[in-house]
Amino acid sequence: MKDKVQPNGHMFLEKGQVLWNKRLSSSYYKIGLKWSGSFYDAKPGQFVMLRIEDRIAPLLRRPFSIYRVIEDKKGLEILYRVVGECTSILSGIMDGESVDILGPLGNGFSLPEKNGKVFIVAGGIGVAPLVFLSSYLVVEKGFAASSIKVFLGARSKEDLLCRDDFLSLGLEVAITTDDGSVGETCMITSPVELALKKARPDVIYACGPSGMMKCLADMAEDYGVACQISMETVMACGFGACLGCAVESKDESKYLHVCKDGPVFDSRDIRF
Ligand SMILES: Cc1cc2nc3c(=O)[nH]c(=O)nc-3n(C[C@H](O)[C@H](O)[C@H](O)COP(=O)(O)OP(=O)(O)OC[C@H]3O[C@@H](n4cnc5c(N)ncnc54)[C@H](O)[C@@H]3O)c2cc1C
Ligand code: FES
Repeated sequence: MKDKVQPNGHMFLEKGQVLWNKRLSSSYYKIGLKWSGSFYDAKPGQFVMLRIEDRIAPLLRRPFSIYRVIEDKKGLEILYRVVGECTSILSGIMDGESVDILGPLGNGFSLPEKNGKVFIVAGGIGVAPLVFLSSYLVVEKGFAASSIKVFLGARSKEDLLCRDDFLSLGLEVAITTDDGSVGETCMITSPVELALKKARPDVIYACGPSGMMKCLADMAEDYGVACQISMETVMACGFGACLGCAVESKDESKYLHVCKDGPVFDSRDIRF
């Protein structure tokens, strides 16, 4: 592995201008933000903390993965699901309003050697950083589309996101839903295991519910494949000051902090 992204090499706190805030389906939105700085150094797997200014609540910033770098690297797009107070307020923000952005934060994915075989496994909204990763591998790093397989799982058709993003990069996409409304009716880990039996990739990249990531971590160990997972926890600061984002490490003597040690980890380092 090479190109490990160093934390906070170029971290900014600035006001971003809302370029668009589009509803995709039921509770999913995409927001485009532009600022005077640059996201030149942003790497897949990194995130930003957003806070909506001029509002009393919520006081805390909230973390969101970078889904796309846009506007000649002067902006970014975030894919988000409305789950609570901040994301509800965010969904009502209009074009031209502003949002505080802190980032890019955290450690991104370590990239494989050129044209290594890659599995990308996304569960639900966990797909957001993996779209950025896929396009980074294909467009920026020149990976052949045939070296990357995408596995996209969702609860139902309504929750299935970003299929066209992967298809437009020429990637093969396997789809599963819990209710069978699109793709196979099973967990996304089932086609991953079948594919692992046929041909092992050099690395699996994953983001999604913790049950999915534990299952993938176990499989990766059984099949002897490297696996990098992007973890989600509740975060208050986003840069190592509050220690509120601790997760248990396999090394019993220490905790890892998702914002500064992650959010991307080697799956072997995490105790699920
Ligand atoms: C590194 C990182 C990247 C993320 N990327 C994205 C993204 O790209 N798109 C996206 O939609 N969301 C993402 N999230 C999750 C997002 O931060 C939360 O959904 C958001 O903070 C919820 O804020 P809220 O005020 O709307 O909800 P709250 O009112 O704060 O919470 C609503 C409910 O969601 C739960 N919750 C809140 N945050 C999390 C969390 N991080 N993990 C699990 N449960 C949580 C709460 O416990 C509560 O039950 C990411 C989280 C992290 C840590
Ligand atoms: S969110 Fe504050 S230390 Fe990680």
